[in-house]
Amino acid sequence: MDLTDRPRRLRADGVRSLVRETRLSPSDFVVPIFVDATTDERRLIESMPGHERVPVEQAAERVREITATGVEAVILFGVPESKDSEGSRADAEDGVVQRATRRVKAETDAYVLTDLCLCEYTDHGHCGMLEEGADDDAHLTVRNDETLERYASIAQSHAAAGADMIAPSGMMDGQVGVIREGLDAAGFEGVPVMAYAAKYESAFYGPFRDAADGAPAFGDRRHYQMDPANSREAAREVALDVEQGADALMVKPALPYLDVVRDVRDGFDLPVAAYNVSGEYAMLHAAAEKGWLDLDAVARESLLSIKRAGADLIITYFGERVARTL
Ligand code: PBG
Repeated sequence: MDLTDRPRRLRADGVRSLVRETRLSPSDFVVPIFVDATTDERRLIESMPGHERVPVEQAAERVREITATGVEAVILFGVPESKDSEGSRADAEDGVVQRATRRVKAETDAYVLTDLCLCEYTDHGHCGMLEEGADDDAHLTVRNDETLERYASIAQSHAAAGADMIAPSGMMDGQVGVIREGLDAAGFEGVPVMAYAAKYESAFYGPFRDAADGAPAFGDRRHYQMDPANSREAAREVALDVEQGADALMVKPALPYLDVVRDVRDGFDLPVAAYNVSGEYAMLHAAAEKGWLDLDAVARESLLSIKRAGADLIITYFGERVARTL
C-alpha cells in the first residue's frame, strides 16, 4: 500500500496548534445575568448550577466576577417586582433592568446588552400583548403591532439607562425596524440592535423559564417563535432583520441548530451570534453530575463547535467557567 496522504502528520503535538482552525477566547463570550427585583439576596437557580438570581444591589458585583475571568460582555434579564397584562414594568424608568444597567455601567467596565422581551413582565407570560379573550385554545394570538409599540418604548428605556446594545427576543414581525426607529428618534442612533433573528420554539429553554420566571401561563410560543423543522424560513427571517437595520444576527438555540448558524454565516456578512441556551447548559451539568461526562471538556468542545460552525460570538452560561480554562 502506498500512502501519500497522511493527515496524521499534522496531529503531532508540536504542530497541532499551528494548524488549528478555530480558537476560543474569553472575548467571544457574553454571559447572561438574571437580576431579580423580588429578592434582596442572591438565589441559586436549581436547574442552572453556577447561576443565580441577583438583586439589583449586587448586579455590579456579579458582573465583576464575570469580567475577572476575561469575559467582557454580559446580557441582562430582569425579574420584575410585579406583572400585569401589558408588562408595564418592562419600560419603567425604575424597572429592574434599567436600575441594574445604570449600576453596572457606573461601577464596571463591562459591555452591557439587554434582552428586550415582555414574557418576564406579563402576568400571562407571553412575549407580547394578547388578543381579548385569548386562552389556551389553538387561536391564542399575540397582537403583533400593538406589541411593537411596547418594544420601542422598552428599547428607549434600556438605552436611556445606558445599555450598550439591545437584543430583542420576542419574535414579533417588524420588531427590529420599529426598535431601530424608536432608538433613533430618542437620540440613540449609536446603540446597536442584535436581532434574535432565527429564534426557534425550542424545548431547550426550560431551565431559563425557571430562572427568569417567564413561562407562558397557558399555551406555548409556536405562533411567534420559529418551527424547529424549518431552515429556509430562517434565511427569510434573517433577511428581514437585515433590511430593518439589525447590526448583528443571532441564532438560538445553538447546538441543535448549527446548520442554521452555518447558513447565516455563509449568507450574510453581519456578525453572527449563537445562543447556547439554558437546556444545552443544564443537560451537560446533569450528565456530569452523574459522572457520565467531563464537564469542562464537553463545555469547551460545545463552544468550539459553535464557533467552528460560524458564530463570531456566543451567549453562554458556560462563559466564566470556560474562560478560566483558556
Ligand atoms: C425571552 C427569552 C427566552 C430565552 C431568552 N430570552 C425564553 C423564551 O423565549 O421562552 C431563553 C434563553 C435560554 O433558554 O437560555 N423571550
